Amino acid sequence: MLELKDVHAQYGAIVALRGVSIHVAEGDLVGLLGANGAGKTTTLLTIAGVIKPSRGEITFRGVSLAGLPPEMIVRKGIAMVPEGREIFPTLTVQQNLRLGAFIRRNRVEYRHDLEEMGELFPILGERMHQSAGTLSGGEQQQLAIARALMSRPRLLILDEPSLGLAPRLVDQVFRLIARLRREGMTILLVEQNVIQTLRIVDRAYLISMGQVEMSGTPEELKRHVDMESVYLGATVAARGGGQGRGAP
Ligand SMILES: Nc1ncnc2c1ncn2[C@@H]1O[C@H](COP(=O)(O)OP(=O)(O)O)[C@@H](O)[C@H]1O
Ligand SMILES: [Mg+2]
Repeated sequence: MLELKDVHAQYGAIVALRGVSIHVAEGDLVGLLGANGAGKTTTLLTIAGVIKPSRGEITFRGVSLAGLPPEMIVRKGIAMVPEGREIFPTLTVQQNLRLGAFIRRNRVEYRHDLEEMGELFPILGERMHQSAGTLSGGEQQQLAIARALMSRPRLLILDEPSLGLAPRLVDQVFRLIARLRREGMTILLVEQNVIQTLRIVDRAYLISMGQVEMSGTPEELKRHVDMESVYLGATVAARGGGQGRGAP
């Protein structure tokens, strides 16, 4: 469904991607793992049309995305939940959701989807007319995901959705992602939370310094990579360490 071939990207003189090739098949949940600064967000921004690759090719459902502006890429069926969520705090929950539906013309469908989001995310359903800034971090993350779903994407891209959330809310977000996948959504998930990500993905890529270092099923990755080193310590320390090995 989505294919990146040898994608290079830079910020001025700073080279961020040095030939990234990844593949997401329809219905798959694919993880993109790597330390801070590895190039994960940059990879997503090239897919979303925000950054133009300096080399390489990106195709979606067999069609090249080269030169398409971000809005057209949303229209092709790719929705992204950005790092840091970026909801609009002074707008209501419903207004935020409406912004996610900007490509949609049909009011009946819009109403239907709005109701569906209220059912999928009961907290949002109860707070449609409350300003989004009053939601907790976990609720804002749900809103950011719901807003992306309002465009009825074929591919949902999430950039570190668990970042900054309390452990209980992290679990909630991972359960939600697993559920969306079970319901048929194709998902590309960027995470630093390696252990939880490997529990839910079909396949994952490990990127390091702008290149794919390894890819495979969770079992393959666990076998070949010291996943705790990917963490850079912080998350392992926060979780008391030692959870990486032998966890189911
Ligand atoms: N706006 C920017 N300007 C200059 N360099 C950037 C910018 N954004 C990211 N970079 C650099 O590009 C590299 C990849 O960053 P990024 O894709 O954000 O990594 P990740 O999401 O994996 O943490 C890093 O070296 C980072 O410093
Ligand atoms: Mg990032």
